[in-house]
Amino acid sequence: MDKALLSKTAAAMVAKGKGLLAADESSGTCETRFKSIGVECTEESRRNYRGLLFTTPGVEQYLSGVILFDETLRQKTNDGVPFGDYLARKGVIPGIKVDAGAKDLPLCSGEKVTEGLDNLPRRLAEYFKLGARFAKWRAVITIGERIPSHTCIYANAHALARYAAACHEASIVPIIEPEVLLDGSHTVERCEEVSEATLRACYAALAAYSAAPEYTILKASMVVSGKHCPKQAGVDEVAERTVRVLKHTVPAAVPGIVFLSGGQADELATAHLNAMNKLGSLPWQLSFSYGRALQAPALKAWKGESVNVDAGRNAFLHRAKLNSAARSGSYTADMEKAAS
Ligand code: 13P
Repeated sequence: MDKALLSKTAAAMVAKGKGLLAADESSGTCETRFKSIGVECTEESRRNYRGLLFTTPGVEQYLSGVILFDETLRQKTNDGVPFGDYLARKGVIPGIKVDAGAKDLPLCSGEKVTEGLDNLPRRLAEYFKLGARFAKWRAVITIGERIPSHTCIYANAHALARYAAACHEASIVPIIEPEVLLDGSHTVERCEEVSEATLRACYAALAAYSAAPEYTILKASMVVSGKHCPKQAGVDEVAERTVRVLKHTVPAAVPGIVFLSGGQADELATAHLNAMNKLGSLPWQLSFSYGRALQAPALKAWKGESVNVDAGRNAFLHRAKLNSAARSGSYTADMEKAAS
């Protein structure tokens, strides 16, 4: 365990003005995204699309790292450079999704536990050799009638903590991602309660497995109203509730918290991050690790056509730039109008 490397990587992941691109969609999720633009999902079309994003000129100003899927870490640019090496040369840290997905949790109807601990140390050692310096593990917490159960929160927190300890041993910074889903008709108050219970369990488990918070990054969901809740919390309320939960639960030793977008509209995800960074001084950096909220406009502009590669890159660069502005609370809605 190289503590100096872990510290350096964690600090670089949340460097000022930069955030992470989550491009670690499994092939199944990629298929869903590609279907929405009428593109066939093959190993080559996935390589083309990821290549478009990574080779966007200037995006390294706004990106500290990219979360990759196993297949992508083994793929190359059109010039034959492995994607991991290509990103590292641009000063963008390659990361890797290592969980094996959320599976049904026995005896807990409607709930999931994330698997992937089998052979994890061996896989992490290989990923380190391939250039990955951070990893991601996503747990899923669903809000519904009488759920989440204590079992679900406990099982996921312990899996996250075991993963984190294995990452530390491999000198790879673990992103701890307990996502409270926004699907459902629950209120923002209920989301706050569940988010707080989930994070509390995660940090208790991390301590139990000796995973030092200094060498972890939290990937959190924001405290928002359920997608189908008739009363939707506004931007400032989301920012206040989210920061309150984080202050109650996340050790000050954690270098940074990055948010997932979770199905929020692109502009709203940016506005929420901006509002949180306007709240004043906090013990951790607050940044982004968006998937859909960074990629959706690029995907729409690209449509799988090589003639649209520049349009796709422009759309991607535009969102990356605005989220970078939200890192310092200097984003304004007017910036959306600037030509993308
Ligand atoms: P979204 O921003 O699309 O939620 O993706 C982030 C992510 O990595 C989910 O695990």
